[in-house]
Amino acid sequence: MNAREQDAVVRMLQDDLAGEHAAIIQYLQHVWRMGDTGNDIPCEVEEIARDEMRHFRWLAELVVDLGSDPTIERDVIYVNGSPPADLMLLDVDAEDRAIAMYMAHLRNIDDRRIQRVLERILVDERAHRERFRGFVSALGGDPDAPTPRPELGPFTGRRAAMGDSQPPASAKTQREATAHPEEFGAYSGHATNEVIYVKDPTPVALPPGHERLIATLNNDIAKEYTTVLQYLFQSFVHKANRLGKELQLDIAQWHMKHWGWLAERISELGGEVTTRHDDIDRTRDAAYVLRAAIARQRELAAHYGEEKDAVEDEEARAVLARIYAHDVYMTGQLEDLLAEAERAGHPAAVFPAAGEPQPPPAQPPERHEPRFTVGNLFGRPQDE
Ligand SMILES: [Fe+2]
Ligand SMILES: [Fe+2]
Ligand SMILES: [Fe+2]
Repeated sequence: MNAREQDAVVRMLQDDLAGEHAAIIQYLQHVWRMGDTGNDIPCEVEEIARDEMRHFRWLAELVVDLGSDPTIERDVIYVNGSPPADLMLLDVDAEDRAIAMYMAHLRNIDDRRIQRVLERILVDERAHRERFRGFVSALGGDPDAPTPRPELGPFTGRRAAMGDSQPPASAKTQREATAHPEEFGAYSGHATNEVIYVKDPTPVALPPGHERLIATLNNDIAKEYTTVLQYLFQSFVHKANRLGKELQLDIAQWHMKHWGWLAERISELGGEVTTRHDDIDRTRDAAYVLRAAIARQRELAAHYGEEKDAVEDEEARAVLARIYAHDVYMTGQLEDLLAEAERAGHPAAVFPAAGEPQPPPAQPPERHEPRFTVGNLFGRPQDE
């Protein structure tokens, strides 16, 4: 592959990544919105989202192998408060677009190893499509019905901004939608990126304090989402060593669970789960990665330590207390990893990042205990 071909391949893989990322978030949002459908469809959709996470990882690792940073951008997602059958129809549509995109990329990428990964993903997407069609039927819908929003969703190549991709409907749209719900529902052809609540014309009034609790939990979800993206990025560039494995297989996965617990509590309370995340740091150096992760864990522990005592909702308290304990534990886990790498030499030599110049295999650093002398305290250099 020459440099120009490689650039083109990386661009295609980044498009695939943005689609997978959007699919993960859209499917999870649909799980949280469907609530209890009286069957195991939400669990099955969650399992599909987990497949998309695997695809996301495979694609990200290919991008790293090609010498680039995997993107954390996401295509626009559509999560309107529609009946479950319509939500599943949106997901059939996402899979249709995924299949078309992977087939096009397979035709345009002339590298056997990458082709094998894309072919493997295609097998899953085709199976997902059939599963989602089955869910539409099981929920009383028609799997061949036109999709409610053909121009929005994963694999449309339309990127979401980093913040909330879906602003709440303006007062005017909401008024019109309440007066004429038939003009705004699924299949109305009335495309909008706003979130309109057409499902429940008389919204249940949230008990006092719930608005604030939901805002608090959503703020935590934004932290968990960003933390997951941060650790995943670091795990991709450290995939060949144990730092990468611990960050991904253990630490990032636990933060994903925290995210899910918080989201479930929000939907039980009748709230909307945020889709917001912040930007990440793309530094690859192992010592920096570990120190930054330790600082992040300490901050998270301090934050949840306070919040668990401040929140009145008993179920949220229990969740926050458990998250707090995890963050304390993970701080120690990362401190151990850093100490171990420092004992064995320079962390960058112990945990070499993909695409970074490697320092020579270092001798364990000589330990100079800092000596505080009176001269030192008075601003004169030490060892004089
Ligand atoms: Fe996928
Ligand atoms: Fe899929
Ligand atoms: Fe977490």
